Amino acid sequence: MTTDTDSLQADILGQIADAAAPEALETVRVAAMGKSGSVTALLKTLGGMSPEDRQVQGPRLNGLREAITAALAARKTALESAALDARLAAERQDMTLPVALPPQGSIHPVSQVMDELAEIFADLGFTVVAGPEIEDDWHNFTALNMPESHPARAMHDTFYVAEQPDGDRKLVLRTHTSNLQIRTMMTQEPPIRIIAPGRVYRSDSDATHTPMFHQIEGMVIDKGTTLANLRWTLETFIKAFFEVDDVTLRFRPSYFPFTEPSVEVDVGYSSKTNKPASGDAVDKWLEVLGSGMVHPRVIAACGLDPTVYQGFAFGCGIDRLAMLKYGMNDLRPFFDADLRWLKHHGFSAFDVPTLSGGVSA
Ligand code: PHE
Repeated sequence: MTTDTDSLQADILGQIADAAAPEALETVRVAAMGKSGSVTALLKTLGGMSPEDRQVQGPRLNGLREAITAALAARKTALESAALDARLAAERQDMTLPVALPPQGSIHPVSQVMDELAEIFADLGFTVVAGPEIEDDWHNFTALNMPESHPARAMHDTFYVAEQPDGDRKLVLRTHTSNLQIRTMMTQEPPIRIIAPGRVYRSDSDATHTPMFHQIEGMVIDKGTTLANLRWTLETFIKAFFEVDDVTLRFRPSYFPFTEPSVEVDVGYSSKTNKPASGDAVDKWLEVLGSGMVHPRVIAACGLDPTVYQGFAFGCGIDRLAMLKYGMNDLRPFFDADLRWLKHHGFSAFDVPTLSGGVSA
């Protein structure tokens, strides 16, 4: 009997250890501990034993049952956790692997137009500068001749940053790229010729306004700069950008706190050719930018002497330029990241604008 239970125990424990799956383990359990299992049968014999025999065999058979039960439970847990590990390993996704699809994107029209503008203005001797989009109200407003109470501040639907630093300079999301007029004059010696393309923010949203959009600022600061220099620069830029031989610009008197005089510039347009035009071919005017001679107060705020230095500045919506040149009529899809729109309106990465090869794609 002793060797019987010992070898039975060893046999069953071996089967338990060999069970490679929960189903196999269940078969072993039924064969040992089920209604007509081998261990169950042995346990049943206890009833017919003499008290003396039972005293010896009882603990032995119960020990057998306990050992088998414990081994079954341990093996079950091990199999379950191995199954979970295998599943986790099989279902794991390595996010660092390269995607199986070839790249789907293309150059966004806004990027393309920025590259075109940089190319055009670089040829005119302008440098590209950049500055912070989270700006303090001194650079965005005050230094641009818009003190705290100035009504023009209300014209910009400004986003204020929720967490403000100590001190009296409030942080805003810049409402225009004109902060780069200030930042450039404070860090560079004239003569200055810069453009500053970038994102700007205003709390505004419809088919032609989005809370984030793009502007390009241009500024020249030198001795003896006049409105005529501004006019020539803008004409040269518009002709190069729209790739037309001639263009008629209309300068309309306007108001910006940081320029004096201020002019809004309309481009003569032909609805026949759908392009900027000149002279008699013009049948409508499109407003494209704001500009003017940099206000003496702005020059002085940056620590330069306005009796020595003057210059012009202009600010222009890049998204609007892209819409005019490439024929989109809704601004919102610009920022939807919709691949279908990008496929239609985007540009190949090989379409690098150059003056010699043509600035447009
Ligand atoms: N910053 C002005 C705007 O956002 C545009 C502008 C720039 C006007 C430079 C004059 C000179 O509307």
